[in-house]
Amino acid sequence: MTKRIKPDRNLAMEMVRITEAAAISAARYMGTGQKEAGDQAAVDAMRAVLDTVEVQGTVVIGEGEKDEAPMLYNGEKVGMGVGPEVDVAVDPVEGTNLMAYGRPNSIAVLAMAEKGSMWNPGDSFYMNKLVVGKQAREAIDITKSPADNLYAIAEALGRDVRDLTVFILEKERHQPLIAEVRAAGARISLHTDGDVMGGLMACIPGTGVDVLMGIGGTPEGVITAAAVKAIGGGMQGMRAPQLPDEKARLAAAGVDLGQVIGLDELINAEDAFFAATGITGGSFLEGVHFDREAGVTTHSIVIRALTGSVRYIKGIHQLKRPMDFKNRDIEGTHGLEDL
Ligand code: FBP
Repeated sequence: MTKRIKPDRNLAMEMVRITEAAAISAARYMGTGQKEAGDQAAVDAMRAVLDTVEVQGTVVIGEGEKDEAPMLYNGEKVGMGVGPEVDVAVDPVEGTNLMAYGRPNSIAVLAMAEKGSMWNPGDSFYMNKLVVGKQAREAIDITKSPADNLYAIAEALGRDVRDLTVFILEKERHQPLIAEVRAAGARISLHTDGDVMGGLMACIPGTGVDVLMGIGGTPEGVITAAAVKAIGGGMQGMRAPQLPDEKARLAAAGVDLGQVIGLDELINAEDAFFAATGITGGSFLEGVHFDREAGVTTHSIVIRALTGSVRYIKGIHQLKRPMDFKNRDIEGTHGLEDL
């Protein structure tokens, strides 16, 4: 007989209110050139709405250490302090430059998973990442060359390598990677920033991106892993220190740079929740639209690992009542009224 389970709570449905708030706040800064102010507005909004959710959360991937980050710092307790104990990974603005210069694909992102389940990057700031969707998840091996991976991914998908599109950050360090992917014959989608979006698109079929390759932030890698886990895709990472200080610290700690960090290590839990809301629009998620008559429109994706549910949520928020999201003085309400 089939064992039936009762419907339970999908935390991601509550998390989307948090990413919507952060995205609306940050979207006011689109194109202003004000990276820090936009990020701060998103942090304030995210923090305020997080505290309305019934969880006992600890930020494990946050804005940095306590002394530099007044809010959403690593170790900070968030949520109402009742309910499940969870690890929380936040990126109130993923792609601060994209937001500040009005370029596509900046998003507000939040991930949660059971307490103690998220990988701690420690002194690792940069990580090499390889992300694919479900169909190709057994085909990847980050210790092999990019070309070998592309051949294996193409075979798993039953396609030609030339029909694959690889998302790569446009960075000097990626010149050899770009050359190799070109030589293998795959198409490339280059982006100045925002590899969480790249990972998200790579693990969801039909987005126009099949693979994410290359070195980006380690915290962003853990956040990406929550989405990949929830979708059922494949991901591997390897620490790839870029900063002299980072290299020295990892070497001093005797960290093995050859260690492959798998998806189950990045998120060691059966259930994981992921929510993201577009700040500036892209081909996958639209950005925030402001309209005094129609309201503020947001576009989000919400994913849960246990059930594999994926929801695309269009939110329309009315500008009627001012809402105080501030733990600090920020001018105006940034369109966050009545969220
Ligand atoms: P920020 O939002 O912190 O600016 O991060 C954007 C980003 O492009 C990430 O998506 C990526 O993982 C990382 O920066 C890459 O770092 P760098 O620009 O130093 O190569």
